[in-house]
Amino acid sequence: MKGFFLYLSILIGILAIFQLIPSYGKSNPPIDKTKEIKAPKEVMAIFKRSCYDCHSNETKWPWYADVAPMKWAVRRDVVEGRKALNFSIWQDYSQQKKEKLKKSIYRSVILAMPLSQYLWLHPNAKLSKEDKKIIQNWASDGKGYIKMDIR
Ligand code: HEC
Repeated sequence: MKGFFLYLSILIGILAIFQLIPSYGKSNPPIDKTKEIKAPKEVMAIFKRSCYDCHSNETKWPWYADVAPMKWAVRRDVVEGRKALNFSIWQDYSQQKKEKLKKSIYRSVILAMPLSQYLWLHPNAKLSKEDKKIIQNWASDGKGYIKMDIR
């Protein structure tokens, strides 16, 4: 029993020290609705439900975004996610970048997005077959199909 309490105190000590390690900031930049992506209602609903936490400036930060070690992963996902694709500043992207991102979105919903570590805690964000079809239809401008170049 003595050993248990010793290990417990060491663990708590380590976790306390973790809290002092600097990490990415946790902020939501100001929102300018005129710059937000414009898409049909059903597409927007899916983006907002499943993607906005990492791909917009309207992140709903969970409590564990303030607790190391979880906060390192959560904040990194949001910073990297916004860098890759930010629906809140979509209108600032060039036409070329929008096209490229739409292709990338088409591909991402097949497997990669939302990230699995996110789905584990946000089961609602999981995309149904129907959701994927809606997104892919939008991303391919109604064609429902996109030529994928293998890179
Ligand atoms: C938990 C956070 C998180 C969620 C939720 C999430 N993403 Fe991502 N997404 C990321 C991160 C982080 C990256 C950057 C990955 C990288 O660069 O390796 C990324 C990258 C992407 C990219 C690649 C952009 C590029 O540069 O080509 C696309 C497209 C994308 N996400 C689409 C989506 C879509 C669509 C959804 C919702 C269905 C979604 N993501 C949900 C975190 C997330």
